[in-house]
Amino acid sequence: MPKRVTRRTFLGWWLASLLTATVVTGLAPILVYFWPAPPKGQKKGLITVSMQTPVDQLEDGTATQILAPTQPNSAFVMADGGGDNAPGELAFGGFVVKNQGKVTVFAQNCSHLGCSVAFNKDAKTLDCPCHGSRFRLDGSVLHGPASSPLSHLSWKQAAKPNEIEVDGLVLGF
Ligand code: FES
Repeated sequence: MPKRVTRRTFLGWWLASLLTATVVTGLAPILVYFWPAPPKGQKKGLITVSMQTPVDQLEDGTATQILAPTQPNSAFVMADGGGDNAPGELAFGGFVVKNQGKVTVFAQNCSHLGCSVAFNKDAKTLDCPCHGSRFRLDGSVLHGPASSPLSHLSWKQAAKPNEIEVDGLVLGF
C-alpha cells in the first residue's frame, strides 16, 4: 500500500523547494561574477601567417605587414608593451622587421593611442598617421608623442619557409 503524504510532509517539501530556488537564484549572479565563463569559442594558440618572402630572404631594413586571419576571426597577442599597449592586449596586425640581420615581429598598434603604424620605406621607420609618432625598426621611439616602444609579438618559424607562427587568439566570432 503506497505511503500517504501528509499535509505536513507536503508543506515541508514545498518550503524546502522554495528555499532552494531562492538561494540558487540569489547566489547564481554572485558565482558567475567570481567564476565567469570563458568567452564563447575563444582559444589561445599559434596563428599561422603566410608572407610573400620567406623569412630567411627578407631584406635588411624592411618591414613586412602581416594581418591576423579573419577566417576564423583571430588576433595576435602582445608579448609586452607600454603606453596604450600592454602584455596580453590584442593586435589585428603587425610587422615582420629585419633590422641589422635580426628578424623581429611587432604589433602594428602605436603605443600612443593605438592607431596602426605604417612602414616608411624611405626613412626606414614605422610612422603613425594619427599624431606623428615615429618608431625605429628596433621598435624604439624616434619621435613622440608616443613615449613607449612598439610591442613585440612572440613568433617562431613555421614548417614552410614563408610562414611564421605568432602567439594569438582565435576569437570565435
Ligand atoms: S596614436 Fe600614434 S601618435 Fe597618437
